[in-house]
Order: sequence, then C-alpha cells, then structure tokens
Amino acid sequence: MGFYRNARVKDAAAFRRVLPLILVTLVAVLFLVYLLRTHSVPHTVPMSSFEQVKRYSDRLLDNIKKPKLPNRSSLSILLEQRNSLPPRNLDLFPTLEKDYIPIVLYVHNRPQYLDIVVKSLSAVEGISETLLIVSHDGYFEEMNKIIDGIRFCQVKQIFAPYSPHLYPDSFPGVSSSDCREKGDSQKGKCTGNPDQYGNYRSPKIVSLKHHWWWMMNTVWDGLNETRGHAGHILFIEEDHFIFPNAYRNIQLLVELKSKKCHECYAANLAPSDVTAKGEGGQILIAEKIGNVGYAFNRTVWNKFHSKARDFCLFDEYNWDITMWATVYPSLGGPVYTLRGPRRSAAHFGKCGLHQGQGEKSPCIDNGVVNIEVEENDKVRNLHSDWNVDYIVNQQGYKAGFKGWGGWGDDRDHQLCLDFADMYPLQTPYHLL
Ligand SMILES: *[C@@H]1O[C@H](CO)[C@@H](O)[C@H](O)[C@H]1NC(C)=O
Ligand SMILES: *[C@@H]1O[C@H](CO)[C@@H](O)[C@H](O)[C@H]1NC(C)=O
Ligand SMILES: *[C@@H]1O[C@H](CO)[C@@H](O)[C@H](O)[C@H]1NC(C)=O
Repeated sequence: MGFYRNARVKDAAAFRRVLPLILVTLVAVLFLVYLLRTHSVPHTVPMSSFEQVKRYSDRLLDNIKKPKLPNRSSLSILLEQRNSLPPRNLDLFPTLEKDYIPIVLYVHNRPQYLDIVVKSLSAVEGISETLLIVSHDGYFEEMNKIIDGIRFCQVKQIFAPYSPHLYPDSFPGVSSSDCREKGDSQKGKCTGNPDQYGNYRSPKIVSLKHHWWWMMNTVWDGLNETRGHAGHILFIEEDHFIFPNAYRNIQLLVELKSKKCHECYAANLAPSDVTAKGEGGQILIAEKIGNVGYAFNRTVWNKFHSKARDFCLFDEYNWDITMWATVYPSLGGPVYTLRGPRRSAAHFGKCGLHQGQGEKSPCIDNGVVNIEVEENDKVRNLHSDWNVDYIVNQQGYKAGFKGWGGWGDDRDHQLCLDFADMYPLQTPYHLL
C-alpha cells in the first residue's frame, strides 16, 4: 500500500514539474497556428502578456475537470437546442457591416417594458448593420412574441438553460428539501447555506446574477456568432430606452477610448448615476462603469473571466454591485468607462429588481414612458477633438462593501463557477 501511494505521489510530483514545459510547448504550437492563420483572421488581438498565458493554461486544466451542472429539466433541454438556431432576418439583412458592434439585450418577463425597448431600437441609426442577441431568463410567450416581430436587423434569441424559472421543483429552482426560514438548517433536515445575514437562497433573487454571468460566458465563449468576435459588444437591459444616436455614439466612443483614455475598460451610453441625463457641454467623461448600455471588448472580458472566483463567491446578489465591490478593484489599477456629456440611453424601470440601490428614475405608466428625444439625440452628438474629464473619487459601491447578501448558498457558488468552465477554449487568437 505504502509503495503504491508513494509511487503515485512521485508520479504526480513529476507530472507537476513537466507541466510548465508541456504548457509552454503547447502555447508555442498554438502561436504557430496563429501565425499561419493571421491572414484569414479579421480581427487580431495584440500579443499576449504573461497573465493571459497563465489564464489560458489554467483554463486548459479546468477543461479537464468538466463542470458538474445540475440535472436538466425537459424545458431546459428544449430551449438550449433553440440556442443553436441561426439568427433570423437573414433574408432581409444577409450581411453584417465591417467592425459591427453586436448588441446583447438581456430580459426577464416584463413585456410592456420590452415593447418600449424594441420600439426604441427600431429607430436607432445603423441598427440594420448589426446583430441583436436577446438573452432570456425564463420562457415567456409574450416576450417571444415581441422578439418575433423584429424586422429591423438580424436577431438571435438565446435562453439561459439553468434559469431557476425553468426548474419548478429542483435546484436552481426551489426543491422541497431546501431550507427556508432563518435557523432552519440547525435542525439538520434541510439543504442550503445561509448568507451573511442568516437568510437562505431565494431563486427569484439569485436568478439575475446567474443569468448575467451565464450570458457573458455564452456570448463571449460559446455562441458560434460571437465567440470569434474580438471587438466590442454592447449590453443593454429590458428597461433601457435607447436613443436614435446610440449606435453611432458607441462606435465613436469605442474608437476614442483607446486613444484618449488608457484607463478606460469600457464605453457607456449613459452616466453611471442612472437618474442623471449628463452634464452637457463639449467634453467626454471618464467615470466608473455604469450598468446602462455598456460596451467592452474581448481583452476586457478575459480579465473579468479570470476573476470568476471573486465574482461567484462574493455574498451579493446584484451582478453590478459584485463587479464594483470585488472584480473592478481586483484588476490592479483605476477602472473607467468613457461616455458622452449627454445620455444616449435611459433607464426607465422603477419597479426594479435592484433592491437596496435606492433608484428614483422615472417608471412607466400604462405602457407610456415620458422620455424626450430631441433633435440632438437623433444624430451622433460627440466629437473626437473633445477632451476627457475624469470623475475621480466617485460615490457608490466600491472595494470594502461587504455585500447585501442573498448569495450564500454553496450550490449557487458552484453553479456560477461552472458557468465559467462551460465552454472549451476557443481558437488561439483569443489568447494571442
Ligand atoms: C440527477 O439525476 C439522476 C438520475 O435521474 C439522479 O440519480 C440524481 O440523484 C440526480 N441528481 C440530483 C442532484 O438531483
Ligand atoms: C457551430 O458551427 C460549427 C461549424 O461551423 C457547427 O458544426 C456547429 O454545429 C455549430 N454549433 C452551434 C451550436 O451552432
Ligand atoms: C480592448 O480594450 C482594452 C481596454 O480599453 C484595450 O486595452 C485593448 O487594447 C483592447 N483590445 C483590442 C483587441 O482592441
């Protein structure tokens, strides 16, 4: 017995020693493949840093141990098959414009909101040049009907297959053995871990963060349509009214960001204070990344992805607060976004899922939203010769905030970590 164990320990140690060599060789081979492919690859990402190589090898190892995702419901299996259907409207818009910025709209079940968002998108200049991806948390007929009606660009629907809304009686939904009331598990008869405030998980509350993280991983590393996209992707939500100039403005911001703001990871359509319209004037603003209309590229996604543990283990159920309090501060330097002085998107839902944020932005009444679109909002209203004003020491959530809780269950932590390991690594040029 002792001999076998020793031999195995020695084997493992030897393997660990040659591992760096294997990985270096592998990376070298991949680099060669990359060089050979360079001429056929439309967007190439600059040469890697050590950190990217390390991330790549970490993920190779992660891919060896397959994630243990929960048992599937039949609805979940059916919906995931739909995720691989090609985009619709290919007959009307057979090609995408060069350097297009895909738009990802993530939604739950508020059809009266979605209707407003889709109408606003239909008036966006340049929308026909791009691909719209709608990511659904749960399956709702009324939501589908609205997306079915879209004729103004290529559109693809995807459904989060592990949404709690698809699991009526098992995890990630509620199961009969789950702990409910504070103190339940002390009786030792139920499943679950309390959050830092002693409360057990609620599927309704955790679903948004799960959806966001699943969607990010799927869009960047899973979908055929986008996993080779090295440039920026724009993200919007079902309660964001989009102004007609939004696409032209984000195109320019993305271009200016690398020239004018080296600490900018993203570009935004609206101020991070969701109640603000912008300060006006002839200036660009660099501030903390907001959650209304944000765009970033693959390099930045790779950084976020490498912080999966920070994201998944932090006891906070809002994805955006999780990013502000753990992920951005862990990137080792200031993290800004670039935006214009006048918003190109507006958050209009009040009945939000973001408890604890004290939002006071306008809501809608009877399906009518009172957001004024002026002439200045219909055309690109930014200029490349404007200077950048930095907002330093901004108010709001930052490193040190301990979280609102709601995210204490080991099963949620594991599901979230599994989402980060769902897809095998794509072509080497993601790394190089
Ligand atoms: C998943 O399904 C298998 C087979 O139906 C069952 O044996 C197993 O207990 C299930 N696991 C969970 C976590 O429900
Ligand atoms: C992705 O594309 C490949 C080849 O182009 C194809 O074989 C595969 O079925 C596609 N996968 C999905 C999920 O669409
Ligand atoms: C992506 O954005 C980051 C942050 O703005 C930038 O440093 C990086 O060079 C960009 N990557 C590409 C491929 O343009």
